[in-house]
Amino acid sequence: MSSDLQLSLFDSSQSASFQTDSIPTNVKIPIPPGTYQNIEQIGEHCNRCHRCELGNSRTHAVIGRGNPQAKILIVGEAPGQNEDETGLPFVGRSGKLLDKILESVGLCTETDIFIANVIKCRPPNNRPPTVKEIEACKPYLLEQIRILDPKIILLTGATALKGLLSDKRPISKIRGQWIEWENRLCMPIFHPSYLLRNPSREPETPKWFMWQDMQVIKAKLDELKEQL
Ligand code: URA
Repeated sequence: MSSDLQLSLFDSSQSASFQTDSIPTNVKIPIPPGTYQNIEQIGEHCNRCHRCELGNSRTHAVIGRGNPQAKILIVGEAPGQNEDETGLPFVGRSGKLLDKILESVGLCTETDIFIANVIKCRPPNNRPPTVKEIEACKPYLLEQIRILDPKIILLTGATALKGLLSDKRPISKIRGQWIEWENRLCMPIFHPSYLLRNPSREPETPKWFMWQDMQVIKAKLDELKEQL
């Protein structure tokens, strides 16, 4: 499935003939724009989905948590064991760190943020998702973005950056930069699990950069709120 095809996802004129009770298992059959009315419908579909092999091993598809009305969407990589068990994203160690980082600039996951992942099912042994898995799952992420309509999208780590924007640049090179995409502002940031492996807070370390990026993000959110 071509992701360019899916980018027309924000044009819902193709959706009329799509039957939501039969999910195409063939990834070449796109899920058209406007298929879903809300996040719950996406969740219901993902829990029955077999567009890739991860559908055989998941306990729960992991769709999202937070406020569906939030202006900020955070996109992670893939569910891990805790997420597969609970059906909620970022509930393990890296999720706790992410919540703490957000809180440190006055952002609350329950009110200011919605969190989702590039792929909805856990890859075995927490390996990175394959290109095929990302492509199979991409329509769900694009539908989430269409429905949630976030103004700011934070892409945590290289998989999120590559998965959504097809941008293969290393995170360390472009973190903290705003990228305009589909009328939204995206910012690549470090993945919290990378910060767990690099705990120093000294200047110019990953944690320090994350703190700088979070302040820029909070300022942009405040600016957007003032414009309303
Ligand atoms: N948990 C998630 O849900 N996503 C990640 O990318 C990492 C941990």
